[in-house]
Amino acid sequence: MLQSYSQISGWGKYVPEKRLTNFDLEKMVDTSHEWIVQRTGIEERRVAAKGETGGDMALAASRQALETAGLKPTDLDLIIVATSTPDYFVPALSSTLQAALGATCPAFTVMTGCTGFVYGLVTGHQFIATGAFKRILVVGVELITPFLDWEDRNTCVLFGDGAGAVVLTPSPGPRGVLAFDLGSNGELGHNLILEGGGGANPMSHQMIDNGQHYLKMNGREVFKFATRILPQSTQAVLNNAGMGLDDIDLIIPHQANARIIDLAVRYLKIDPKKVFVNVNKYGNTSAASIPIALVEAIEQGRVKPDDKIALVSFGAGLTWASAVVQWGVAVPPSNGRVAAETVPVEVVAAS
Ligand SMILES: CC(C)(COP(=O)(O)OP(=O)(O)OC[C@H]1O[C@@H](n2cnc3c(N)ncnc32)[C@H](O)[C@@H]1OP(=O)(O)O)[C@@H](O)C(=O)NCCC(=O)NCCS
Repeated sequence: MLQSYSQISGWGKYVPEKRLTNFDLEKMVDTSHEWIVQRTGIEERRVAAKGETGGDMALAASRQALETAGLKPTDLDLIIVATSTPDYFVPALSSTLQAALGATCPAFTVMTGCTGFVYGLVTGHQFIATGAFKRILVVGVELITPFLDWEDRNTCVLFGDGAGAVVLTPSPGPRGVLAFDLGSNGELGHNLILEGGGGANPMSHQMIDNGQHYLKMNGREVFKFATRILPQSTQAVLNNAGMGLDDIDLIIPHQANARIIDLAVRYLKIDPKKVFVNVNKYGNTSAASIPIALVEAIEQGRVKPDDKIALVSFGAGLTWASAVVQWGVAVPPSNGRVAAETVPVEVVAAS
């Protein structure tokens, strides 16, 4: 039984300083700035510095989120981390983050690719709804660039590193996650896969010689899935919320490819002004993409109390995860801190 609504009362993000532009990539693989922009909308992505870990990025985003929420790490009841590119298989990044923060609460990791943050958010919401926990940190983080084959133009131009985090706390009125739509079609999993290093294909010289320690993707199949599931899951989550598109103030889709977003916008006949896009600056940061976009939307003044926001994601698995979130807290003026460097792009035309 629902005991309490949850609200997002803290938020933070971190992206590495180093920018890798399409022009840099032109020197590394057979590609061009024009091709990448036309097919994906991506202009640059961030790459972690040597020695900078996913844990470091998660820590920076989490500290900001706690500061915005006015909480100390020891106030937390639970930490949920979403990542598919952990620093270690064992221990989980959630535990290393818990230690780095100086938190004393339970912590676990969700590994559903780019949908991980929304899966984590919906999971965190359940603990608050049942009254079990009151202060939950949900983090999406990916240090994905070490898992990319920098000679494979099909994948290396698409992804980037980063982290985003939110704090969930109880709300007296309808706030936070009002509805969700989660799904998985494991039959399609082979289309986005990192084959080597796990139990099925343990680390070996041969595995590395075969390049199986890199992310592989069937771009066309993932594109087909994404363009189908983005509108489908948007409609499903709106149905679950008892809302129509007109009730939604802002849609934050997973930032994988501006063309995928554009096709969904056209199909659903959404006002493009309601759709947040920053894939041009960061590429696909997987589980970090939605929380980074949410934080930038806040920083740009695009999120106000009572706004209803649809978060819609798709990714490895293949999975999808969407949530309608009602915004609760006012955004303090200091949260406009990076607004100046944020340049929203128009959704590029579908080819
Ligand atoms: C990867 C993707 C951008 C490719 O775009 P596309 O328009 O579908 O391109 P195609 O796959 O049809 O390939 C067209 C050609 O471009 C080439 N190409 C691929 N990447 C290239 C690059 N970076 N630069 C130049 N050419 C490239 C292909 O090799 C192909 O050449 P060919 O016709 O000689 O075989 C697109 O399929 C995509 O975005 N898929 C979804 C990816 C995704 O979102 N993944 C993460 C999900 S969470």
